[in-house]
Amino acid sequence: MNSMQGELIPATQANTNLGDYETARQSFQWDEVEQQFSWHRTGFINLAYEAIDRHVEEGRGDKTALIYSDAEREESYTFAELQSWSARFANVLRKHGITKGDRVFVFMPRSPELYISILGAIKAGAVVGPLFEAFMETAVKDRLEDSGASVLVTTPALLKRVKREELPELRAIFVVGATPEQAEAEGAGIYPFEQEVVSVSADNAIEWVELEDGLILHYTSGSTGKPKGVYHVHNAMIQHYFTGKMVLDLKEDDIYWCTADPGWVTGTSYGIFAPWLNGVCNLVLGGRFDPGAWYSAIEKYKVTVWYSAPTAFRMLMGAGEEAAGKYDLSSLRHVLSVGEPLNPEVVRWGLAVYKRRIHDTWWMTETGGQLICNYPSMAIKPGSMGKPLPGIEAAILDDQGNVLPPNRMGNLAIRTPWPSMMRTIWNNESKYAEYFRIPGWYVSGDSAYQDEDGYFWFQGRIDDVINSSGERIGPFEVESKLVEHPAVAEAGVIGKPDAVRGEIIKAFVALRDGYEPTEELKAEIARFVKEGLSAHAAPREIEFKDKLPKTRSGKIMRRVLKAWELHLPAGDLSTIED
Ligand code: WTA
Repeated sequence: MNSMQGELIPATQANTNLGDYETARQSFQWDEVEQQFSWHRTGFINLAYEAIDRHVEEGRGDKTALIYSDAEREESYTFAELQSWSARFANVLRKHGITKGDRVFVFMPRSPELYISILGAIKAGAVVGPLFEAFMETAVKDRLEDSGASVLVTTPALLKRVKREELPELRAIFVVGATPEQAEAEGAGIYPFEQEVVSVSADNAIEWVELEDGLILHYTSGSTGKPKGVYHVHNAMIQHYFTGKMVLDLKEDDIYWCTADPGWVTGTSYGIFAPWLNGVCNLVLGGRFDPGAWYSAIEKYKVTVWYSAPTAFRMLMGAGEEAAGKYDLSSLRHVLSVGEPLNPEVVRWGLAVYKRRIHDTWWMTETGGQLICNYPSMAIKPGSMGKPLPGIEAAILDDQGNVLPPNRMGNLAIRTPWPSMMRTIWNNESKYAEYFRIPGWYVSGDSAYQDEDGYFWFQGRIDDVINSSGERIGPFEVESKLVEHPAVAEAGVIGKPDAVRGEIIKAFVALRDGYEPTEELKAEIARFVKEGLSAHAAPREIEFKDKLPKTRSGKIMRRVLKAWELHLPAGDLSTIED
């Protein structure tokens, strides 16, 4: 099936937390993982307590928990400091009437205040909703509206994208970096974040919850409809903690760097929860991707464990060996990747230039945590996602739910449940049920096969979801925005293969009468999506067509668009309109 299947990169790191994979798998019990948490003894549950306060109470309060760095700021916070600031923000929320289960959204670039807000909201028992900073008006409104959010934390610049008059449930907005006068000038319900947090105490901040109480709501894209709110509960911490130890291989003295933004699930599960549940120092780098800045951060902070994504590794590869050679990267002990297929070529390059194996991991927003991974103690087959975690059963199923033998491609599915499995899709039980249509299994929407040695190999998405630079984009959301443009009659959106970004967004557009198909119009339409929805959802390519292929019920056939693009046969056209 895959010419790379025979290639093996042996494990070089013998002494890891996991030990031998097969042995660990055989003796594994989730119950034993649960015993590591303080609530197992006390009965008092809150993820933020386990991640921060617990370390203070066990004598690690002076240890650095967060190093934050961007072009303007460089700050570090101990566990004791994070405990205090997050407690204060929890009390601010309480003062404003927030109670267990209320939705508190955060919409801002990475900063210490973002992390403090997320931890504080969790301490208050709220369900956190992180929004990526690139979201524009429509994307922000859709998510706040669907979730019924009552609080938002944002910055003065991003506040302009919040349509307050259309969001009656949004009661309070805290603005980071606003003076009391500036906040007041914005009108009722707008508060200056810094002033609020210093005006309350840090006492009695934690709302104790149940393991099944709400933790976080991550909006993500499917192939139809608006983005869906994937709902996770505190119980997920069992998986975050465990995978932090066994997959990230975190140890007490590590300096850990996850490059993902908390607007996406990797940036929370592995940019916040896993490292802090393991009591590890977490580096957060603000600003945009830049090879020099990234390598220099590894050198300067002596990063030991680094979790990034294939697009970033491909761009670093593009920057060349010389770019890497200017920095001392010898602190790196363990390198991992997630979000898209990791090309064997990138793995080989990592071995040659970083002198490290890059460990691929597979999971999804819906799974809440890693499920199929390459472990430090395991031989890597470049191009394979690895094997399921101890405690996780994965299989390839046909559409009827039969488990397929090795080397047969089918639906990648996971035996239900596992600790960090989503608990619902917000306001949409029927979408939730679709994932579980085969009894006993979660059907991922990815296609894959498993080889004779038990390794899983990613093949593609079964639906039309686009993966560009590791970010999931729903074609429907982009199409809906496109048709709002006055020149656009119809639009169909696909992912077009791209050497660096995995896929790019390509839109096929039929124009309304009276519009000329010019290059200027293409640029204007792309800008329209960028300004209305977000930069990462804007099509990088637009092609004008007189007409788009549609089913008799009027649905645009993206499959045919994709076939046009790739010069493939269009397949069964029996349902096409004409
Ligand atoms: C894809 C990100 C290949 C896959 C954590 C999945 C991957 C979707 C890998 C989830 C991988 C994630 N190899 N494809 N190692 N990891 N994907 O929800 O299609 O943003 O279904 O979660 O990304 O993307 P999401």
